Amino acid sequence: MSQQLSSFIKDWAGKMDVELKKCIADLQAPPPLLEAMEYSLLAGGKRIRPIFLFATLDALGHDPLKGKHAACALEMVHTYSLVHDDLPAMDDDDYRRGKLTNHKVFGEAMAILAGDALLTHAFYLLAKNAEGMKPEQFVTMFQEFSLLAGPNGMVGGQAADMLGEDKKLTIDELYYIHERKTADLLTSAVRMGCYIGQASPDQVIHLTTYAKHIGLAFQIQDDILDEIGDEAKLGKKVGSDKDNDKSTFVSLLGVEGAKEQLHQHVQQSKEALAKAEVLSDRLADLADFMVQRDY
Ligand code: IPE
Ligand code: IPE
Ligand code: MG
Ligand code: MG
Ligand code: MG
Repeated sequence: MSQQLSSFIKDWAGKMDVELKKCIADLQAPPPLLEAMEYSLLAGGKRIRPIFLFATLDALGHDPLKGKHAACALEMVHTYSLVHDDLPAMDDDDYRRGKLTNHKVFGEAMAILAGDALLTHAFYLLAKNAEGMKPEQFVTMFQEFSLLAGPNGMVGGQAADMLGEDKKLTIDELYYIHERKTADLLTSAVRMGCYIGQASPDQVIHLTTYAKHIGLAFQIQDDILDEIGDEAKLGKKVGSDKDNDKSTFVSLLGVEGAKEQLHQHVQQSKEALAKAEVLSDRLADLADFMVQRDY
């Protein structure tokens, strides 16, 4: 990874910790619920969705900080999805972000409720802080984020992923899942950056294509790391997909076949980026990070 990208990620991930702490500081709720929310939200994580939002703003010549509330909303929605993804009824995992999973510490009821609370509070925070945008543009951004995170997007993808357990899916069915469960939220991150950074309609089109390929590449690498990754670096158990009899890019194509697909999506993301006419170096480095990452 380039030195520049690694300090960009480190700086902005650090700022996210500060902002996320503020987001939950004044909540009034039963202490175990608040503890469970904070436990997963502040457990670390790559903060990759916020980083794509910040890098998009930067590429459009805007101060990334303009997107801080949208970034917190994204990370809260993402964190809720992980808390629920790890539940016994779903992937049944014991470690996440280097710590015991939420339900292992707080019990299933509180983990479900912490997820619900992170999800709803994300939309409250976003609605409360309109990022200095024109009302119509803000409403469009809000609607789109809701759509991409919900049944048409991430939740629909997670449902299809669960329904696909113990079945051998086709590659098209797997694309349906990966586009929704992972690419949609990453696309939302980049498109939020586009709205806040007042991208032109053409820039929105090309950056959306960029983001879709990034999202697919990101999940393919997640599938590869579930097979050959290092648990200590990942902070989660490897082999979870096999244990749950999931169809993944690795189970369908093997590690080498999955890597080929990963490279193709990174290449396609860069082709779209080249058409977007933005300051593209950092977004191109982030595309390479999809292949290089081992955590
Ligand atoms: C894990 O997401 C779930 C996927 C969509 C692949 P991340 O790999 O972004 O998890 P954190 O946020 O860094 O823990
Ligand atoms: C989860 O995909 C995607 C989400 C929307 C949470 P995985 O189930 O592969 O994510 P990990 O490997 O547990 O992080
Ligand atoms: Mg899962
Ligand atoms: Mg999982
Ligand atoms: Mg996985």
